[in-house]
Amino acid sequence: MLKRSINDIQEQFEHAIKTVQDPAGLEEIKHLFLGRKGKLASLFSMMGELSPEDKKDAGRVLNELKHAFTRKLEIRSADFVSGNKVKTDVDFSMPGYAVHRGTRHPLTQAVDEMLNIFQRLGFDIAYGPEVETDWYNFESLNFPPNHPARDMQDTFYTRGGGILRTHTSPVQTRYMSTHEPPVRIVAPGRVYRNEAISARSYCLFHQIEGLYIDTDISFADLKGTIELFCRMYYGKDVRIKFRGSYFPFTEPSAEVDVSCFLCGGKGCRVCKQTGWLEIMGCGMVDPNVLKAVNYDPEKYTGYAFGLGVDRMLMMRLGINDIRLLFENDIEFLRQF
Ligand code: PHE
Repeated sequence: MLKRSINDIQEQFEHAIKTVQDPAGLEEIKHLFLGRKGKLASLFSMMGELSPEDKKDAGRVLNELKHAFTRKLEIRSADFVSGNKVKTDVDFSMPGYAVHRGTRHPLTQAVDEMLNIFQRLGFDIAYGPEVETDWYNFESLNFPPNHPARDMQDTFYTRGGGILRTHTSPVQTRYMSTHEPPVRIVAPGRVYRNEAISARSYCLFHQIEGLYIDTDISFADLKGTIELFCRMYYGKDVRIKFRGSYFPFTEPSAEVDVSCFLCGGKGCRVCKQTGWLEIMGCGMVDPNVLKAVNYDPEKYTGYAFGLGVDRMLMMRLGINDIRLLFENDIEFLRQF
């Protein structure tokens, strides 16, 4: 009878000590088993009915039990102090939690991929601020004050007279003011324009600027580099086309079209049946820009280009709404 009770209580104790979660639980166990009216005490009180011989034996067993309980309580209490949980309770057969891994935004991936190509072609990477001065965003780039060319870029002004840069071209004159030629850089970043927001235009988008200044740089160098870049980005079969254009800071200026990568030039939804996609503006750096940064235009020439990352990416992904790139819709982003 006593023996059975001893076994029961021992089992109950073992279970309790294994599953206890915190020091408060440990206190409860101590109270329940070793307290003055606890389970062990009730066992001791059962000894009264035993013969003197049995009493001696039972007393020894119960005292050992008391010591064992006390020691185990101490060990578990030390576990909590050192932060150990009950390791035997981990069920390794339970299914795990799915880990949702983050990825870089498709725009970041596109910028990285493009920069990587330009780095392999020998370009350094430069950065400029997103809040610019009128000098760097316009004047140093040969836009005189109040000149109608400024209307090409609907501009956000800050209260202090700053400008949210409308293109990455100010990085050209910023970099040249602090570096001597030769200069060969690409400058990625966000640009801002006060556009009516629609599927095709957003108040913010991304460009990569390119600038190469040295002695004897010609339009042929520009063409060769752009062609190589397009082949590396779109594949070796892509064809390119330069269309004459106008920018105040380049002369002559051009816009670059690539043959539509989707239909190969036959005409489709992405290229609006024209077979061509416009991806950048470019040209030979205007002598006035070189003068603005104290470079000698008789000695140095160079080219510049600015490509639109968002539209290049949209064409590649086959999406026709630029807002998808800025809405942070997880269902959309998860695809990339
Ligand atoms: N900055 C021009 C734009 O945003 C693009 C450009 C860059 C054109 C460099 C020529 C040279 O439209």
